[in-house]
Amino acid sequence: MIVVLLGPPGAGKGTQGERIAAALGVPKVATGDVLRAAVKDGTKLGLEAKGFMDRGDLVPDAVILGIMKEALAQPAQAKGVILDGVVRTVPQAEGLAKVTGELGKRVSVVLAFDIADDALIARLSGRTTCEKCQTPFTGLVPGAPCPNKDGGTLVRRKDDEPDAVRNRLRVYREQTAPVLDWYERQGANVVHINAVGSMDDVMARALKAVGR
Ligand code: AP5
Repeated sequence: MIVVLLGPPGAGKGTQGERIAAALGVPKVATGDVLRAAVKDGTKLGLEAKGFMDRGDLVPDAVILGIMKEALAQPAQAKGVILDGVVRTVPQAEGLAKVTGELGKRVSVVLAFDIADDALIARLSGRTTCEKCQTPFTGLVPGAPCPNKDGGTLVRRKDDEPDAVRNRLRVYREQTAPVLDWYERQGANVVHINAVGSMDDVMARALKAVGR
């Protein structure tokens, strides 16, 4: 089962992606996590991506298509995969369709997380993220140890600063929202999820949408 998570920044894709992946027993791939790890390690990919990410702009499609292709070819994904934020432009959606087609697979369901901008801004302004495991937290301060006890420290993401958040919301509306229309036109199984409510409530809606 290939599940595509789509939604604006802060909608809860990462939070629910982990939970859905655990419930289905499949891995999760998040391009944001892959790119942040590359930035942290100072690799060529990281150096190329950093400026785009800090401003809240999208990393070029060609870079993402390379990550997508490599990730989908992993044997660990034979049973399926949760794609968190991997598809953010129509060319990326077309690229994913091509890659999955070559592997004899197709996207099973697109989960669209619906939530208003003011709720997103409130969530992102209070978020800290573990620099090691990348888990997001609310109500904890930068510099605190990660509650997952992995030795990581909580940091505030550069793209959670107000200017970058405003840009990410604009980029989402202009470049990523049209991806939903593209999937609808392709006749894909697009399910809208109300992303407001407790994490458990949102998870129950998401699991129902993937048939659990
Ligand atoms: P990425 O890391 O994917 O950022 P994003 O899409 O902006 O999403 P976020 O991680 O900010 O939010 P989320 O929806 O995962 O919410 P979360 O679960 O953390 O990408 C970063 C950058 O990388 C992009 O801007 C771009 O530059 C680049 N990039 C990545 N993929 C790309 C691609 N395909 N193409 C081009 N560029 C790409 O939750 C948010 C907060 O809310 C947390 O604090 C959480 O604890 C809290 N929360 C979650 N659920 C709830 C709830 N139900 N109630 C209350 N609080 C909640």
